[in-house]
Amino acid sequence: MAVFNYAESGATCLINGADLDPCTIVIFGATGDLAAKKLIPALLNLHGNRTLPRPCVIVGCGRTPLDDEGFRQRLQKNCPEETRQHALWDEFLQKVHYQAVRYDDPDDYQKLVTRLKEFDESAGTAGNRIFDLAVPPSLYPMIATRLGGAGLAEEAGSGWSRIVVEKPFGRDLASARQLDMVLHQSFTEQQIFRIDHYLAKETVQNVILLRFANALFEPLWNRNYIDYVGIVAAESVGVESRAGYYEEAGVIRDMFQNHLLQLLALIAMEPPSVYSAERVRDEKTKVFRSLRPFSGLDSGSMPVLGQYAKGVIDGAPVVGYRQESGVGPNSTTPTFAMMKVFIDNWRWNGVPFYLASGKRLPRKDTRMVIQFKGVPHSLFRDVLGEGISANRLTLGIFPEEEIQLSFQTKVPGPRICLRNRTLNFKYSDDVAGPKQVAYEKVLVDCIQGEQMFFWRQDGVELAWEFLDPILEICEACTLGNQGLETYRAGEWGPQSAGEWISRIMS
Ligand code: BG6
Repeated sequence: MAVFNYAESGATCLINGADLDPCTIVIFGATGDLAAKKLIPALLNLHGNRTLPRPCVIVGCGRTPLDDEGFRQRLQKNCPEETRQHALWDEFLQKVHYQAVRYDDPDDYQKLVTRLKEFDESAGTAGNRIFDLAVPPSLYPMIATRLGGAGLAEEAGSGWSRIVVEKPFGRDLASARQLDMVLHQSFTEQQIFRIDHYLAKETVQNVILLRFANALFEPLWNRNYIDYVGIVAAESVGVESRAGYYEEAGVIRDMFQNHLLQLLALIAMEPPSVYSAERVRDEKTKVFRSLRPFSGLDSGSMPVLGQYAKGVIDGAPVVGYRQESGVGPNSTTPTFAMMKVFIDNWRWNGVPFYLASGKRLPRKDTRMVIQFKGVPHSLFRDVLGEGISANRLTLGIFPEEEIQLSFQTKVPGPRICLRNRTLNFKYSDDVAGPKQVAYEKVLVDCIQGEQMFFWRQDGVELAWEFLDPILEICEACTLGNQGLETYRAGEWGPQSAGEWISRIMS
């Protein structure tokens, strides 16, 4: 893999590790999958692109007794091929160390304190620490409490300390509050980084810039000109090896409570007065507060819920959700949901936001669609009939990172005929320097103490407040009875969602 040369690039939008605070990155759950598949590869890339602080020490922590060399050998076995083939892999591994920690044992945390102090002295990491909890969420409270007990959350005079946690942040409002209370016993809100990897996507971060750094869109960005908004995260994969987690979560907790509501907030928020983490998150919070509450089963606000049955994906037969390993034969966990959501404020009154996500859909496709209204009066009706397509702005996240604007134009020739064409911007045509993937951005933001693209607790709670009543009803769903429908793997969800999904995906 090529190593990017900052000196030659002259690019000003890049981060040079030499400008960052030196630090130690402590990964809990270091022998697990998340560390080997995502975090270590991300850190290696940052090292390769010279974006890691200098110095930076990486300490893996886990219950398995290992020494540094044993841990490196494990990574050598478990990290992806591409990572192990990287030209700087061996050099990078020298930065990586291991400290065995039984998560509930205060003495082990004292040993960690001693080890971290040694690194501060030998490597010059200046007492700055990130604790990345790549462990099951049930362990967050214990590890956070023990870190606090060992004095590792303290910042006074000893460098900074930050804790990184991933969704799910609880499984409902009450448990989210409980988790937050425990985290806050040791860490302040500024020290807590709640990851949503969608917020680290280039195309997602760009929504604010597209909307507020261009004069073109904002005057039209409201109920007067927008017919509806569609936000879809479709996946062709099934539940894979995560049935244990997914059976507890289902699609609403897995995708809506976090990723889809963040996308909605970015599309719907008002411009903040300045581009700062607190002001941006204030505006998102106002959106969450304006979500029209769910008003009961018969109100039309009940989501369409589905569960995949056997079918065909990419030409190959696949089993239904209930036949997946680890899933009960009578499971009523939804693997697809589509919601029609309204935002009760001046800008969006009456504009539906369609949110949809599901597994075992025909393809992986993630996008946001802003569908404008048609022209108010067609002066071409005598020659063309009434059928003029309205403009549409599509913000593609996957498979293409792109922005498409559809518009009408004349077909060249003697007669008046219209055709629908698109202006198309692809991010890949325009990249200066190394492209950072989500975990690289998350880690760099955290090293910089930049909270803009992390969840703040008020948002987490408001998202649960909105979804809890829906989840309560969903959890009472039974297949073929009220609510939960089946769909064949490889189709765009249950029939009742089909029309909307195909309009958005067309
Ligand atoms: C995760 C969910 O948060 O996001 C997964 O737990 C889902 O179920 C994944 O597959 C989708 O992320 P992406 O970036 O591939 O769209």
